[in-house]
Amino acid sequence: MALRSAPLLLLVLVAVALRESCCGTSPHSLKYFITAISEPTQGLPHFVSMGFVDDQLFSSYDSNSQREKPRVPWMEKVGKENPQYWDTQTQILHGQEEPFRESLENLRSRYNQSEGLHVIQWMYGCELRGDGSKGGFHQFGYDGRTFITFDKETLTWVASDPQAQITQRKWDAFPRFNQGKKFYLEKICIKWLEKFLSYGNETLLRTEPPVVTVTKRTEAEDGMETHVCRMDGFYPREIDASWRRDGEVWEEETFHGSVAPNSNGTYHYWLSIRIDPKERGRYRCHVEHDSLQESLDVALKEPKSNLGLIIGCVVTALVLVGLIAGILVFFKRRQNDYNAPLRSNQAI
Ligand SMILES: *[C@@H]1O[C@H](CO)[C@@H](O)[C@H](O)[C@H]1NC(C)=O
Ligand SMILES: *[C@@H]1O[C@H](CO)[C@@H](O)[C@H](O)[C@H]1NC(C)=O
Ligand SMILES: *[C@@H]1O[C@H](CO)[C@@H](O)[C@H](O)[C@H]1NC(C)=O
Repeated sequence: MALRSAPLLLLVLVAVALRESCCGTSPHSLKYFITAISEPTQGLPHFVSMGFVDDQLFSSYDSNSQREKPRVPWMEKVGKENPQYWDTQTQILHGQEEPFRESLENLRSRYNQSEGLHVIQWMYGCELRGDGSKGGFHQFGYDGRTFITFDKETLTWVASDPQAQITQRKWDAFPRFNQGKKFYLEKICIKWLEKFLSYGNETLLRTEPPVVTVTKRTEAEDGMETHVCRMDGFYPREIDASWRRDGEVWEEETFHGSVAPNSNGTYHYWLSIRIDPKERGRYRCHVEHDSLQESLDVALKEPKSNLGLIIGCVVTALVLVGLIAGILVFFKRRQNDYNAPLRSNQAI
């Protein structure tokens, strides 16, 4: 079982690694997420729409407020340049509430479901990649599963089950409707994405470099060592990080987390590797990121002290420890002196 699933796991890991290391300059996306629920409970509105540029929520609408509102300061500029923007968006979204209520009813009866909580999710958006290529998607989910997906290349809908095929036949009967969807994804959506990126450039196009640290954990049983390379506080999200042995990409006995957000809008990520301590000097944690002029190669930590030596020279060691402590205290003080101006520099 373990043996059979190992190649699969490796494939998954390789696929993830390929995906996360694809682009030199970061892709950008504009996405809308619309959720309609059948039973508004605990104050949850029955219809909510949220707009995101990259990972930033920039506008939202819900059936309680009945108003599309900016969620970031840079969206105020859109209203200034285009005074109709918020009213138009509000009207469009308000107009979608009723069709979604109807859709919830249709699906409930189509799946023979009783009354209760059911959810339709609608997601669509476009992507502008670092290499200049573009992407777009448009799909619906029902109760947490994909229901129907638009294929903009064939201009048809792809149904996930017989119930969705009913919708597919209905929508594919209107080719102009599908052409309109494609035009929106490839032209209009991209145009708005570019506009939003220029309005929000101060936050959306900023770069913050990762702070890279490598720490060691020894495993007692077989004498192997695990080293963890952490990258923290970087923006944008895309990061290309790998282990290198003698300068070559090395994947054996390596693991990695997924890129995860910090509360301040930056991201963190980690890689780990299990190695024979004798070969410690051959490995580097290799990091590439938009914020870095050159890639980083961080060496593994050598052990701070040799146990055998210390047993032999307890007194020397004690003196050393005293000395190191003194030096540390000294440097700590110096560091504190230097930290103050450095921090205020970063804020500029
Ligand atoms: C719903 O009920 C009808 C009639 O009883 C039946 O033909 C159909 O297969 C059912 N559909 C599902 C999804 O269970
Ligand atoms: C954002 O755009 C403005 C106007 O085009 C420009 O002056 C500013 O330098 C840009 N800021 C960044 C961080 O790119
Ligand atoms: C953001 O948070 C991370 C982790 O908490 C921290 O390492 C980083 O320095 C912070 N960055 C800024 C710009 O505050």
